[in-house]
Amino acid sequence: MVQPLIRLEEIVKRFGNFTALDGVSMEVHPGEVHALLGDNGAGKSTLIKVLAGVHQPTSGRIYVDGEPVSFRNPLAASDAGIGTVYQDLALNALTSVTRNFFMGREITKGARPFGIMQTREMNRIAREEMGKIGIDIANPEQAVGTMSGGQKQTLAIARAIYFGARVLILDEPTSALGQKQQLEVLKTIKTVRNRGDIAVILITHNEIHAQLVADRYTFLSLGRVIGSGVADELGGGDIRRLMAGGAEMADLEQELATVP
Ligand SMILES: Nc1ncnc2c1ncn2[C@@H]1O[C@H](COP(=O)(O)OP(=O)(O)O)[C@@H](O)[C@H]1O
Ligand SMILES: [Mg+2]
Repeated sequence: MVQPLIRLEEIVKRFGNFTALDGVSMEVHPGEVHALLGDNGAGKSTLIKVLAGVHQPTSGRIYVDGEPVSFRNPLAASDAGIGTVYQDLALNALTSVTRNFFMGREITKGARPFGIMQTREMNRIAREEMGKIGIDIANPEQAVGTMSGGQKQTLAIARAIYFGARVLILDEPTSALGQKQQLEVLKTIKTVRNRGDIAVILITHNEIHAQLVADRYTFLSLGRVIGSGVADELGGGDIRRLMAGGAEMADLEQELATVP
């Protein structure tokens, strides 16, 4: 068995008295899409924020390439190759595709901060990198606001990869998109996966999207892993049952919380 790129062991995260993650373990492998599924409030975003250095775990361990790590902040996680594409994508609609691609990491000639920006070079790279994962941007100087939702996702993904992400975390990348755009993003995910060197963690509550691209699954409910496995072994029925089971558990919990 190949060594996982990331291993999370018994991660606990408490916010005050509230336990958002209660002993979560998972492994992610290069060349695979790992779907992290679960109902609202399951702890999906909290888990990836722990992995991305936004939150420190209350307890538990994180390993990268088998080495224990501890990320004090998002920059430390990013330096270790953890790239996160959040729902809002952190793009500036008013500036160009290229400026958004580089965002603070522009290529300049001469000493910073007064160096001359190498616009042509940067346009070429932005266009090429997006092309590699399947989106042809005719004019990289166009404002990001003019791009489709799917293209914006691809820009954020291409940027993360170009700047060194080995683990690409996508938090609900298809949730705000129309059907055609969703397909575009799923294609991008497949293309990234097929490179073979990057691990994708796909957070979604769309089980169909997960089934279209996932190699491995972890199901969360109320901060606990209620199921996991590889796609070849989990059938559509298992996946539906685990999704529904998680939703039902959350509903029951909420009902019970109203009992005085
Ligand atoms: N910063 C925080 N402070 C307190 N509670 C939080 C915080 N972040 C998340 N939670 C709680 O943790 C639980 C899991 O949230 P989250 O990870 O966002 O779930 P998901 O992404 O699966 O919908 C929720 O009940 C949420 O209210
Ligand atoms: Mg979330």
